[in-house]
Amino acid sequence: MKLIPSDFIWRNGELIPWADATIHALSHVVHYGSGVFEGIRAYPGDGGPNILGLTEHVRRLFESCRIIGLPLDYEPSLIEQAVVDTVRANKHETCYIRPFAFRGYGELGVDPTTSPVEMMIATFPWGALMGTEALEQGVDVAVSSWRRMAPSTHPAMAKASGNYLNSQLVVMEAKANGFAEGIVLDVDGYVAEGSGENIFVVRDDRVLTPPCGGSILAGVTRGYVLELARDAGIEVVEQRIAREMLYTCDELFFTGTAAEVTPVRSVDRRRVGSGKRGPITALLQRNYFDRVYGRVEDRSGWLTPVR
Ligand SMILES: Cc1ncc(COP(=O)(O)O)c(C=O)c1O
Repeated sequence: MKLIPSDFIWRNGELIPWADATIHALSHVVHYGSGVFEGIRAYPGDGGPNILGLTEHVRRLFESCRIIGLPLDYEPSLIEQAVVDTVRANKHETCYIRPFAFRGYGELGVDPTTSPVEMMIATFPWGALMGTEALEQGVDVAVSSWRRMAPSTHPAMAKASGNYLNSQLVVMEAKANGFAEGIVLDVDGYVAEGSGENIFVVRDDRVLTPPCGGSILAGVTRGYVLELARDAGIEVVEQRIAREMLYTCDELFFTGTAAEVTPVRSVDRRRVGSGKRGPITALLQRNYFDRVYGRVEDRSGWLTPVR
């Protein structure tokens, strides 16, 4: 999706013009992927935009920093406020929010510790990741020939820039072969996730998803959808999922800040269930949109109002 510039970007404590938020080509992150980031959405509400999952996303940002050893010298509450301030300054009704902490310009060598840490927050308009039609009709996907990184290689639980080389390979391969997205297996051949989404299988009215230790990013949306399923009285199980279950399940869907709740209608050209958005996917999707658009009470504090 093409970037539409906003007025301001928050950088190292102040709001600066969008066009000024540049970094040097020899910054450490450019060469070695030494950054961590978040993807957050703000949805339109009655009194202005509401930021979805702000506390959880900022918490994960700091956890990613701890995992990769990036000392981010701010209080999480300050970053939360900075996100709110940036959305407000840019006068968005709805937007995507990209906080990004990284190793900047200093020395060039693999060891990041001598390069300074910088932080920025950008906000900009963004629609449905795979198009609005995908939310109703579902998407066609394929199992990737790439594997998710093994637990002893890259820390999959960190939302670290360097990890996204794996995601890039997955999504490029999928699109080159005419699919909307790829499903990545872990090194043992079990289902992990999409290139930028978590995955859920529905079988016999139970909702199954891989556990957080299964080479996945612990998605904020994943947690919300598990909560919605439990609230609806649906049994949820976090367990290893064999590839075969992708071909035999009743329903399949992705979750993510960008993907929201996107049904999958085929895997490897094999129809999933009836080939349409299934009833449990439809229920969870409806309940998710009701919550994020503020149409029902925000019982567990998902939303942070900007105004
Ligand atoms: C690899 C990966 N998995 C899962 C997700 C979904 O996470 P969330 O629901 O927090 O957006 C994302 C998106 O951030 C991702 O990049």
